[in-house]
Amino acid sequence: MNARAALQVVTGGEGHRLHADPSSPPAFRFEGLHKTFKSKDGADVVALHDVSFSVGRGEFVTVVGPSGCGKSTLLRILAGLERASRGLVELEGKRHAGPSRHIGVVFQAPVLLPWRNVLDNVLVPAQIQNRDAKVARERAMHYLQLVGLAGFETKYPGELSGGMQQRVGIARALVNDPLLLLMDEPFGALDAMTRETMNVELLKLRERTGATIMLVTHSIPEAVFLGDRVVVMSPRPGRVTQVIDVDLPARRTLDLINTERFGSYVSGIRTNLNASGGLD
Ligand SMILES: Nc1ncnc2c1ncn2[C@@H]1O[C@H](COP(=O)(O)OP(=O)(O)OP(=O)(O)O)[C@@H](O)[C@H]1O
Ligand SMILES: [Mg+2]
Repeated sequence: MNARAALQVVTGGEGHRLHADPSSPPAFRFEGLHKTFKSKDGADVVALHDVSFSVGRGEFVTVVGPSGCGKSTLLRILAGLERASRGLVELEGKRHAGPSRHIGVVFQAPVLLPWRNVLDNVLVPAQIQNRDAKVARERAMHYLQLVGLAGFETKYPGELSGGMQQRVGIARALVNDPLLLLMDEPFGALDAMTRETMNVELLKLRERTGATIMLVTHSIPEAVFLGDRVVVMSPRPGRVTQVIDVDLPARRTLDLINTERFGSYVSGIRTNLNASGGLD
């Protein structure tokens, strides 16, 4: 089969359904989501326009779109850090508002506390949630091992490379065993090689935790490499222009990036972004 013909592309702005099993509620769902900000001069800035899609439990969805199209806004609304102006956000079938311990967030910069060592940084969300200290410590050690930082517990952020700091941020997001992991361009500041390694590690981590993941990125190849589905957004005001099922092997290795099939997905998304005037 021609690789391009194998693409299952769903186009249109509304009602995208990423959720495979209709009998259980999706991990999360957006319905008719709008977000308008007031800028300092009083003008309305429409960041999101009528965004609807849902994601099944255990799925890895990536969101790609040009700068300023509302990706972080969407992620922050799902994280409960920002309120939608209109529309519905559901988590596990229930209306969702406000931060939850079931959601872990990895921000673009790891924002670690420099005076706390690695272990104590990872423990911050558990302490905020008042979790049992012994259980929290066990979970922190477990996730530090999963992200490849066993043995670095007593180091301080200033003693770590950028990639290692980002991994501390990931362990910290996982410490409360979240059902949903939200990642906002987590590898944007890393060099290409470290970024590829982190991508492979993230897929392994996902296999081991079973968490539902939404990752926002500027990089089309990264979106295709990581995603079971890719949500493509238009330039501001952000709308969903395409949702793509990525029909590539579940266990992905870096050599996949050089295949024709992978290239077809990437160029398909690039064409779509070009058409909406969104390639930056
Ligand atoms: N607190 C705010 N007040 C006013 N406008 C805002 C605020 N937050 C975001 N915006 C605006 O909303 C739009 C979407 O911003 P957002 O940060 O979600 O984009 P993004 O897709 O994450 O961009 P990038 O890829 O550069 O991170 C932008 O035009 C931005 O200026
Ligand atoms: Mg952003």
